[in-house]
Amino acid sequence: MKTVRDIQTLREIVSGWRQDGETIALVPTMGSLHRGHLSLVSVAQEHAERVVVSVFVNPTQFGPDEDFDAYPRTLENDRRRLSRAAVDLMFAPGDDEMYPFGGDHVTSVSVPEISAMLCGNDRPGHFVGVTSVVCRLFNIVQPDFAVFGQKDYQQLVIIRRMVADLHLPVKILAGQTQREKDGLALSSRNRYLTDIQRKSASIIRAAISQCCERLLGGESNYATLESDGLKRLEGVGFSPDYFVVRKAGDLSPPDANSRYLVVMAAARLGSARLIDNDLVELPVK
Ligand code: PAJ
Repeated sequence: MKTVRDIQTLREIVSGWRQDGETIALVPTMGSLHRGHLSLVSVAQEHAERVVVSVFVNPTQFGPDEDFDAYPRTLENDRRRLSRAAVDLMFAPGDDEMYPFGGDHVTSVSVPEISAMLCGNDRPGHFVGVTSVVCRLFNIVQPDFAVFGQKDYQQLVIIRRMVADLHLPVKILAGQTQREKDGLALSSRNRYLTDIQRKSASIIRAAISQCCERLLGGESNYATLESDGLKRLEGVGFSPDYFVVRKAGDLSPPDANSRYLVVMAAARLGSARLIDNDLVELPVK
């Protein structure tokens, strides 16, 4: 596996692949790689001949009081894992390479409305940072495919909208959420949980699954389902930011005829902020 830190070298390698007629998939990450990230690599390998994984802890998507400094950086370990997974290239640029004019006044790409709700409401500016760096990565690598996890469902919906709205020539693929045995979604931030908090953390998955079952069972009072979900999280000491039922396509509130739904939750437990979701497809009435 090649490890590349600068854009020019990356472009030379990628254009060599292109001249050989090979297709390219990109998996953007912030490193600290776990089984969830590696499952996205497998999706990428199923679709393209060459796979690039970017590892960049993007400063512009962290708020001033967030965990940018504490965010785990494990580049050598990440490199070993990607190499074992037969990734072709790890792109690990420095801040100066990604933001040559500094991090304070960057050109940004923003997807209005969907970026302001839910996690965007609790983390102002976060999604503008995400779309701004993902758009840069797309311009740098120019992949045929890019793979994102369903785990960050709002991020996935926003990136799909950015690609459609800006007519970017990249196909977005989604990878399923990988979980611990008790259902907790894998996340680099799970390490912020104490042992006791870790034991109650799987309730977020259980509450979402229960809500999905009730929807499939025919319940359609979304307000009741949402408040029951919130209560269940609060019951084990979470401070929930939201527990909602939304339309899967654009995250707007569902109506009586909506069939494709997503149940999404975000909640704080100690110093960790956990998010999770699941999709529900209701039968035709
Ligand atoms: P990061 O949190 O490192 O996640 C990288 C990718 O891995 C995202 O697409 C995310 O949805 C996916 N992922 C995380 N946990 C997962 C799990 N348990 N199962 C499957 N996939 C999982 O998301 C980001 O980085 C950044 O915002 C980024 C898109 C790289 C832009 O900086």
